[in-house]
Amino acid sequence: MEIWAHRGASGLAPENTMAAFVKAYELGADGIELDIHRTADGVLVVMHDEQVSRTTTGRGYLHSGTYAWVQSLDAGVRYHPSFAGERVPSLVDVLTFIKSTRMKLNVEIKNNQIEYPGIERDLVNLLQEHGMIERTIVSSFNHACLHRVKLANRSVATAVLCTEFRPVHPGYAKQIGAAGLHPNIKSVNPALIQGAKAQQIAVRPYTVDNVQVIRSLNAWGADGVITNRPDLARTAIS
Ligand code: G3P
Ligand code: CA
Repeated sequence: MEIWAHRGASGLAPENTMAAFVKAYELGADGIELDIHRTADGVLVVMHDEQVSRTTTGRGYLHSGTYAWVQSLDAGVRYHPSFAGERVPSLVDVLTFIKSTRMKLNVEIKNNQIEYPGIERDLVNLLQEHGMIERTIVSSFNHACLHRVKLANRSVATAVLCTEFRPVHPGYAKQIGAAGLHPNIKSVNPALIQGAKAQQIAVRPYTVDNVQVIRSLNAWGADGVITNRPDLARTAIS
C-alpha cells in the first residue's frame, strides 16, 4: 500500500509548504498530495483554502492577488515560530523539487468554489514541461474538471474525490475515465475496495492518521492511504 503525505507531512510541518514536502520525502512517503489555486496574474500556487488567512500572515483571496503578494506571506509562523519564513510554494517550486526524487504527486485542483477557467490546461502544461505526466494523479471534488483534464491530455491519471456525505461507486469513477477513487475514510469498507479492484479502480482513502485503521486498509487491499503522518503509516505497515 502506498503512503501519500496529505498536504505534505502536514502533521509535522506547516501544510502545503516545501518544509512539509521535504519532510514527506525524508520520511519515505511514496507520494505527496497538495492543493492548487491560481493567482490573478495566472500563477498556480499551492494552498488548501481559497483565502490565505488560516495558514499565513495575510488576508484575502488567492484569485484576486498577485503572485508577488503571495510570495510576501509567511506560511510557517502560524503553525510554529520555528517555521517562520516558510513561503507559499508555487506549483513550479514543488515540481522542481519532486522531479529530483522518486516520489509521485497527487495534485488536487481546488475549484469547487472558484472556477479558475482553464486551470486544467495550465496544470497539464506544467506537468509536461517538468516531465511529471506519468508520475502524477490529478484529483478534484469537481468531477467536470477531471473530464477537462482528460481533454487536455488523455495520459494524465485522474481520481474522483468524494466526501462521506456523497460517496460514489467505483463504477462511476470508471464511467468518467478516472483511474482512482479517493473517498473519505468514513465511507470506506472492504466491499468498496473489492468492488473497485474488480473494475481496476485504485482506492486511496483520506485522511487517515490512526495506526489501526491504516493496518486495516492495508489488509483490505487499499492501493494507498492519504495521511498527515507518513512516519506513522510506514511503521504501521512495516
Ligand atoms: O485529497 C484528499 C484530501 O486532501 C481531500 O480533502 O479538504 O484535505 O483537501 P482536503
Ligand atoms: Ca487536498
